[in-house]
Amino acid sequence: MENKTQPNGTARLEIAGKSYELPILKGSTGPDVIDIRKLYAEAGVFTYDPGFTSTASCESTITYIDGDKGVLLYRGYPIEQLAEKSNFLEVCYLLLNGELPTASEFAEFEYHITHHTMLHAQFDRFFAGFRSDAHPMAIMVGAVGALSAFYHDSTNIQDLKQREISAHRMIAKMPTIAARAFKYSAGQPFVYPHNSLGYAENFLRMCFSVPAEEYKINPVLARAMDRIFILHADHEQNASTSTVRLSGSSGANPFACIAAGIACLWGPSHGGANEEALNMLREIGAVDRIPEYVQGVKDKKYRLMGFGHRVYKNYDPRAKVMQQTAHEVLDELGKHDEPLLKVALELEKIALNDEYFISHKLYPNVDFYSGITLNAMGFPSEMFTVLFALARTVGWIAQWKEMIEDPSQKIGRPRQVYTGATERQYVSVDQRG
Ligand code: CMC
Repeated sequence: MENKTQPNGTARLEIAGKSYELPILKGSTGPDVIDIRKLYAEAGVFTYDPGFTSTASCESTITYIDGDKGVLLYRGYPIEQLAEKSNFLEVCYLLLNGELPTASEFAEFEYHITHHTMLHAQFDRFFAGFRSDAHPMAIMVGAVGALSAFYHDSTNIQDLKQREISAHRMIAKMPTIAARAFKYSAGQPFVYPHNSLGYAENFLRMCFSVPAEEYKINPVLARAMDRIFILHADHEQNASTSTVRLSGSSGANPFACIAAGIACLWGPSHGGANEEALNMLREIGAVDRIPEYVQGVKDKKYRLMGFGHRVYKNYDPRAKVMQQTAHEVLDELGKHDEPLLKVALELEKIALNDEYFISHKLYPNVDFYSGITLNAMGFPSEMFTVLFALARTVGWIAQWKEMIEDPSQKIGRPRQVYTGATERQYVSVDQRG
């Protein structure tokens, strides 16, 4: 990757009467950045930004978010257009390569992904080591990390071809692993992938078919699944993506880096929120309990899960598509009277008109409606974050690949402001008071 930022003036910083000129750089859109790379060497100070609220950690050409306007672009294409007109595998190609594929490029890519979906036979024995009540995200972290023990021939990160093969392997095998995590917890036999099926269809079949019965794929549900994957495919430098980049900055192999990303995604402030959002809707249970629940949020007893976002200070564009998908799925399954949907719609209405939520710029995020949809499709709530991880894998890989190919890439190594004890002398145990 070629660095593309352009100079756009300088910023002046005064410290103890001494002045320092810092270059300002601009990207193709979005806020300019102050380049502080030489600050410590020249001025002997660090910058302090826990939570990285004002810090750009890298240069990237993959995903752009305008949080105030509620805009999300993958390689420049609005998420709404991709969700309506594209499909997940095409989006994968776009994220990895920067451009939409031609028909022949797509056919080749689809062939590679389809023909990497099987797991090494010994890998299946790996699942048996988990307790039957293991959370499927725990299985995902372990199983994906274990891929590096099975596919040694694609762990040399300096080799472009190996990087490509590891990318194809992870995108292809993630649905197989996720479906096995699901089947394992359900106590059902594993179902093998079938190369005649599309990506989302194959995944649904591996999750919901049983050997004793014929499984018919519902095209509305397969389309909804594919759209959910598109919506979750990438999201700029969020916590799990930054984890993948930081892990990869040391030269770790891509399977290990993606396992680190999955671990980070699991937390309830990040990918774990879809599970929490559905649990919350269940806890509220009925429309007449909403005011009491909202009061508890305002009293800061708990947070409204599926609401708020570090970057979006407007409606999350993914949530709009997700709400529409929720309606489509519930209509198809004859569940439009689903009480949880009623609670969600009313909760959203009340929150969007409430002064607390307006002043805090809290809007529904992608997780608000995804839980209801996935639940209606037959997934238990423990699987929601697994589906997020499956879809986000391509984004993590695209970001990891971009980092490896960036000439300015260095090992990530933040500093700190130290507030602990200064140097002191060791005291032997018999002399401690
Ligand atoms: N419910 C109630 N109040 C909230 C919420 C919420 N969901 N989110 C933020 N606030 C309040 C918070 O109490 C604080 O208020 P005050 O200034 O009065 O103390 C203010 O808004 C700012 O909160 P913050 O924690 O500093 O904001 P943040 O940008 O660090 O947090 C967030 C972002 C996503 C962690 C947070 O909004 C949250 O916890 N939301 C619920 C969990 C959730 O839905 N996460 C999924 C995010 S989208 C999918 C993904 O990217 O993984």
